[in-house]
Amino acid sequence: MWTRFLSLLVLVVSGYASSDCTGTINSMADVAAAVACTTVNLNSFQVPAGQTLALKLLTGTTVNMNGDITFAHENWAGPLFQISGSSITFNGNGHTFDGNGPLYWDGLGGNGGVTKPAPMMKISMSGTFSNVKVLNSPARTYSVSNPAPLVMDGLTIDNSLGDQPNSNSNGLAAGHNTDGFDASTENLTIQNSVIMNQDDCLAINRGANIVFKNNHCSGGHGISVGSINSGVTVNGITITGNTITNNDQALRIKTDAAATGSTVTNITYSGNTATGCKRFGVIIDQSYPSTIGTPGSGVLLSAVNFVSPQTSITVNSGAERVAVNCGVGSCTGTWNWSNLKVSGGTTGKITNFNGITGFSQ
Ligand SMILES: *[C@@H]1O[C@H](CO)[C@@H](O)[C@H](O)[C@H]1NC(C)=O
Ligand SMILES: *[C@@H]1O[C@H](CO)[C@@H](O)[C@H](O)[C@H]1NC(C)=O
Ligand SMILES: *[C@@H]1O[C@H](CO)[C@@H](O)[C@H](O)[C@H]1NC(C)=O
Repeated sequence: MWTRFLSLLVLVVSGYASSDCTGTINSMADVAAAVACTTVNLNSFQVPAGQTLALKLLTGTTVNMNGDITFAHENWAGPLFQISGSSITFNGNGHTFDGNGPLYWDGLGGNGGVTKPAPMMKISMSGTFSNVKVLNSPARTYSVSNPAPLVMDGLTIDNSLGDQPNSNSNGLAAGHNTDGFDASTENLTIQNSVIMNQDDCLAINRGANIVFKNNHCSGGHGISVGSINSGVTVNGITITGNTITNNDQALRIKTDAAATGSTVTNITYSGNTATGCKRFGVIIDQSYPSTIGTPGSGVLLSAVNFVSPQTSITVNSGAERVAVNCGVGSCTGTWNWSNLKVSGGTTGKITNFNGITGFSQ
């Protein structure tokens, strides 16, 4: 009896103790053994073509990046990197995941041409993910679906090279559909990060309690809620303290013209600064995928507010300051925009809605 109890105890204790180790990854061959430890050191190496570096971690694991990871080129769906687990601390220490984008870029992104790994980085963990640089993602960069609260902090996405045409892009910017973050999730904060790309800096297709703060978005399509399709809910998005330079638009909500049964509410903007907007300052458009086309009314949109401190936007000449294109009856309530200031460009149209207070253009 006692012997059995003791051997069981030893088993349990050694079971706990066995993960209290440090695993080191120098190649794909090391991954399986390393993720059995709650400290994992990720050293520099090249991931072979067509493979995912997948870290399926024990609860409470700390990962330390000690060097740069590159991914060999192959035209496949990806992802290139995937991480899952609860209460994970991922320290990038400023190191880089290099997606080798220029080997894929053809100006078409996900709309044609060669198959590109997308997303490049699939984040399915809770905890903190910090100080990581992604260089040249083939197409979409981060897809985030955290199982519990997650803070992503101090990240860099540098796809700026994709602003230039290359020999495969017919004169178009070579990088395309290089979204920074696609976040259809809950309880996520993305902060203190720099995103240089050719598409949405952030796109939220559904979810709740998402904070995007003190980030710098450069060169892309701005900070987006949407696109929103049928049967989804968005509630509780805070966009604050961001700097948006040289984007098509600074702030956008886009809902599909054909969508039904969806609700988008409680979207709060504050303290954002934008310059060099090429098409719009703020655009709220229920006609997606058109731009200011015939709007649908199947997505109920309410409580879109600009609160203190003021959001200040400057648009280029030829760009519209604010355009709001609602379906009949689908934008509701009162939206307080007294803390929005937009200058430059021309006046945009406000269609099918008169609930905006504190703002005139
Ligand atoms: C998000 O937080 C809310 C409130 O604490 C909680 O009810 C919900 O389960 C959480 N969801 C996730 C995915 O973390
Ligand atoms: C608005 O969103 C915030 C942040 O997620 C949340 O705490 C609050 O309850 C939401 N308000 C409503 C009316 O749903
Ligand atoms: C809008 O917000 C401002 C600043 O918080 C406040 O002074 C004003 O009363 C609000 N307007 C409405 C109609 O709620």
